[in-house]
Amino acid sequence: MNKAEKLSVVSYRGTRDFYPEDMRIRSWIFDRMKETAMSFGYEEYDGPMLESFELYAAKSGEELVNEQLYHFFDRADRHVAIRPEMTPTVARMVAARINDLSRPIRWFSFPNLWRYEKPQRGRLREHWQFNVDILGSDSIGADQEIIEIAIQVMIRLGAGKNDFRIHISNRRMLTYFLHQILDLPEGIWGGVCRAIDKRSKIPHETFEEMLRELELTSHQISELGRYLSLSHQNIDQHPVSESDGYGELRQIWNGLSESGLDTFCTLDLSIVRGLDYYTGTVFEMYDLAPENRRALFGGGRYDNLVGLFSKDRLSGVGFGMGDVTVRDFLEIHGLIPNPEPPIQVHVALFNEELRRSSGAIASLLRSAGYRTTLQLDPVKLAKQFKWADSKSIPIVILQGPDEKKQNLVQVKNMLTHSQQVVSERDLVETVRQSLAGD
Ligand code: HAM
Repeated sequence: MNKAEKLSVVSYRGTRDFYPEDMRIRSWIFDRMKETAMSFGYEEYDGPMLESFELYAAKSGEELVNEQLYHFFDRADRHVAIRPEMTPTVARMVAARINDLSRPIRWFSFPNLWRYEKPQRGRLREHWQFNVDILGSDSIGADQEIIEIAIQVMIRLGAGKNDFRIHISNRRMLTYFLHQILDLPEGIWGGVCRAIDKRSKIPHETFEEMLRELELTSHQISELGRYLSLSHQNIDQHPVSESDGYGELRQIWNGLSESGLDTFCTLDLSIVRGLDYYTGTVFEMYDLAPENRRALFGGGRYDNLVGLFSKDRLSGVGFGMGDVTVRDFLEIHGLIPNPEPPIQVHVALFNEELRRSSGAIASLLRSAGYRTTLQLDPVKLAKQFKWADSKSIPIVILQGPDEKKQNLVQVKNMLTHSQQVVSERDLVETVRQSLAGD
């Protein structure tokens, strides 16, 4: 093939290649998330990446379906979509086994999701999202547990209380406000929610313009502004404090205060979430560092989603935490750990005749639990050591013909440049001590 015939294929815009060093960081992050979910008794599940289009058309929200969904007709003319989020899948899966699953159902997952979004900081077209959901409980304790898990994940990732805040609100309370206080017709509630959801990303005039287009009066617009800026200190004096939604919010807050977690949270009535299925508690987490303005994760309570697929009603509450924003967060706060060396021991090869015994040494170390590579070609020893150094391998083992005769091996510690000759019998223990820095 000459130069002109070479394919110029680059990766699809908005996706990432994960090289081994990226995979190491990703696994480290996912392990912390998984450990946290499991410590609360959650079980892992997964689902297909391709679902039928209707699954999202029903409840995922206008922007997600009309602007961001990857959908097409398969070879048999079925209208399918690549999952942009996991919540409809988990609701469908639970509905399919509704009578067999004992409740509450505590599940977590790590799906990769696709959204046709403009690639930018914190937003890509493919991302992985840690999903944690509890289904089959109407208790406000479930909302509290979900928020607590999210906080514990951040703590396990190394974050402190000055690094992030969870902004909490309640959709039922907002509905009460729009309906009972502003007296707005139901037909425009969705539009008002979308305007509120966009508010922090658009100029104030554009926000007001959106509301005027929905036929809100100046009085209603200013009342809405007042509502959105209510805080902990003054919400009790506002008429919205008579709503059931506010009662739920209060209960969650009290629970969080009792466990000392309220320091990680703030009341923020401008949180509405862009997805249509949320009905009660809604929350988003933000980095306190100004460079990272995107929500790190979001979630909430959805009372009617499972009912779309089953005659039974089953409520749920959960969150989705994206890997892109979490990684940005960890980088900004210097929390990405130094990776563990992927290879712990390299067994050098003196010459072809010693291949079998060197191979046996490598097998012995692997069975003892050490990540071990074996030199493939008996090139110059200096070259073998140089390679081990370039891979940051802490230990190199060498057995030459003289050592072989006496069942001995050389153990070189590449970090301290020290070297010892030990019997084959003592090899595993010597490696253990060297790696532990003893
Ligand atoms: P969401 O707010 O659409 O919620 O997404 C949750 C999180 O996923 C976001 O806060 C962000 O971290 C990440 N994320 C979303 N889109 C992208 C993107 N294009 N690139 C990178 N990261 C992104 C949901 O998806 C709900 N289904 C979550 C949920 C679970 N609610 C209840 N259970």
